[in-house]
Amino acid sequence: MSQRVHSLAVIGGDGIGPEVTAAALEVVAAAGVSFDVEVFDLGAARYLRDGFVLDDATLERLRGFDAIMLGAIGPAIGDTRIPGGTLERGLLLRLRFGLDLYINYRPFHGVEGSLAEGCDFAIVRENTEGPYAGEGGTLRRGTPYEVATQGSVNTRFGVERCVRYAFERAAASARPKVTLVHKTNVLTFAGDLWSRVMAEVHAEYPGVEVDYNHVDAACIYLVEDPARYNIIVTDNLFGDILSDLAGSVSGGIGYAASANLNPTRSGASLFEPVHGAAHDIAGLGRANPLACVSSAVMMLEHLGEDEAAARIARAVRDFHGDAAQLGTAGITRQLLERL
Ligand code: IPM
Ligand code: MN
Repeated sequence: MSQRVHSLAVIGGDGIGPEVTAAALEVVAAAGVSFDVEVFDLGAARYLRDGFVLDDATLERLRGFDAIMLGAIGPAIGDTRIPGGTLERGLLLRLRFGLDLYINYRPFHGVEGSLAEGCDFAIVRENTEGPYAGEGGTLRRGTPYEVATQGSVNTRFGVERCVRYAFERAAASARPKVTLVHKTNVLTFAGDLWSRVMAEVHAEYPGVEVDYNHVDAACIYLVEDPARYNIIVTDNLFGDILSDLAGSVSGGIGYAASANLNPTRSGASLFEPVHGAAHDIAGLGRANPLACVSSAVMMLEHLGEDEAAARIARAVRDFHGDAAQLGTAGITRQLLERL
């Protein structure tokens, strides 16, 4: 067990966010890792209270932590008081872009009874470019001649560092294989860049097997033959969509974890479950904290707390029972007992 005390920013956020981060913090503490925690009140509730989303000073403070844990951000479905994009672009994407969290690493382990039962694979999603970059605009809005464009930004630098990360992960794994997922037959400019970078980086990792799937075909394979995958590398939007599908076939989005990584460590990395705020079950003790706990496992690995990470990961894998029945407290108690 390490003697270090890590500084941790916790953004519980909205809905079930604060419940799952609290459970994850309880579990990491029980595994013997010490954190100096500072809570940041950010998200929909904060915005509705005083209009604050995120400013430069707060972003800079967040950069200085050893890690950031985020629960979930977003208003309840049907709540129209917050214009779409306010929190997504103003908070989540601002954190990803501003802290240069250029990898969104999303591991999947098919739980018992799921379509992907027994499968282990991960999506390496480019996290700062693609259609998320914000390129584009509107002309003649509200007229019959309206024009809206939203370009996909793919830089040599951005694609290469993402693909390189995927190969490094694969090379260190038991089944070294990287599958590029794209739509090179239609998105020919971006697809050409991604394909050439794949081939070039592959030359440096001859021991890693490579494959390519069009994104539509990947949707079929994820359902019918998920065992074919080890590391999937893909752009920001394909990675967003595929990771929901991957979560679903692996046992439900309630289990899906993610790490928004700055592998250069020029600032804090951010760890969050893939699921959202689920306002409908907030405050009822029904939230499944396993995705947040698994995100915390990746945080511990990032911080060099490998032993604690492995113990918690084992407890999560050995978890059994009806998550809905057990509720947040029941699931957390079972994890604590297994530690
Ligand atoms: C995710 C989410 C975000 C994304 C949204 C909330 C901006 O769907 O983390 O997958 O699209 O990346
Ligand atoms: Mn998503």
